[in-house]
Amino acid sequence: MKNYPNFGFSLADQGIETQEQVASLFLTVRNLFDNAALEVRDEGTLTDWRNAWLARKTGVLTMIGDNWLKRAPASLKGHVGRQFNQLRLYVDEKFEEQRQRIEGGAQESALTRECIDLSLPGVHRPIGSHHLIRQVFQEIEDIFVSIGFSVVEGPEIETPYYNFEALNIPEFHPVRDDMDTFYLELPKGAKTPLLLRTHTSPMQIRTMEKQKPPVRVIVPGKVYRRDNPDATHSFAFHQIEGLAVDTDITFCDFTGAIEYFVRQFFGASVKTRFRPSYFPFTEPSVEFDVSCPFCGGTGNSNGGTCSKCKGAAWIELFGAGMVDPAVYGFVNYDAKKVSGFAFGIGIDRLAMLKYGIDDIQVFFQNDVRFLRQFP
Ligand code: DAH
Repeated sequence: MKNYPNFGFSLADQGIETQEQVASLFLTVRNLFDNAALEVRDEGTLTDWRNAWLARKTGVLTMIGDNWLKRAPASLKGHVGRQFNQLRLYVDEKFEEQRQRIEGGAQESALTRECIDLSLPGVHRPIGSHHLIRQVFQEIEDIFVSIGFSVVEGPEIETPYYNFEALNIPEFHPVRDDMDTFYLELPKGAKTPLLLRTHTSPMQIRTMEKQKPPVRVIVPGKVYRRDNPDATHSFAFHQIEGLAVDTDITFCDFTGAIEYFVRQFFGASVKTRFRPSYFPFTEPSVEFDVSCPFCGGTGNSNGGTCSKCKGAAWIELFGAGMVDPAVYGFVNYDAKKVSGFAFGIGIDRLAMLKYGIDDIQVFFQNDVRFLRQFP
């Protein structure tokens, strides 16, 4: 039989009859085993090698036991048994050696892999900065907090009751046309329609419902209107609402507080003025103007017309007024005992004015070339 050694055949089938032949056969097997050991590089090849030689049913050792030893003639059995045992010990020992080598190596390479080199330069991860709108919010909040206001926030999804009715804007009031807004699609039978708030004023109502006078709050937040985007319009923008209600608040307190804010924000030298206006939830209502901080209220700058106020010398800032007594009726305040003022500041507009930005859209585009100018 040529294919020698053959583990599937008995010794007799392979023409092995003498002790010398048995010894040389086992030596060949050992060489085969040693050669196979050279292929062991990692845990995968170690397992393959082990399975080939030691697997319970099909491993070489099992086959030698079954086909060579068990089927050996009585005259050779003792000799084959001894050779077989020696081979088994040898295989076990070598296998253990290789196992330790591979596992030790794996551990070592894991150690090198996971070792942290503290001398390597770190990766610089810039932490960014507050958006300009956030910065302006903060600036305005600081000013009002310094004169006793506290900051509250409210929901961006509102009911028509808080967004309109309780602010003295009944269902068919024409003012609603200016605030054409986004209504949410609700399942049939919903208790009330819902909309994205068109202004921060609903928080006047929510605050007074919760709190008895004195009330002094400002409400920063996002508001939404169905405006088509252009340089001065965006369907989402930002406001700060203000509300002060107490038993003795006068129109002078009102103008004093607003003037204080405007001077803090634009600089001590600006002047303010107000013009009559109309809001359903204030009476009287005013529009506050500031003398143009860019041309010193002259309308001229650099020998020409001031580009900021377009020569008008005044810049329109925001709406405000004394709280309309009708509003107190919605929150169970006694309109005979309390009085107060409210204002609604458009943050985007103020930020544009103060920082010379001519397109509101840049606030929402998140272009880092813009954002980096306001670190
Ligand atoms: N809510 C108004 C708007 O968005 C702004 C406003 C005007 C708020 C006068 C006020 C106020 O609190 O008194 O157009």
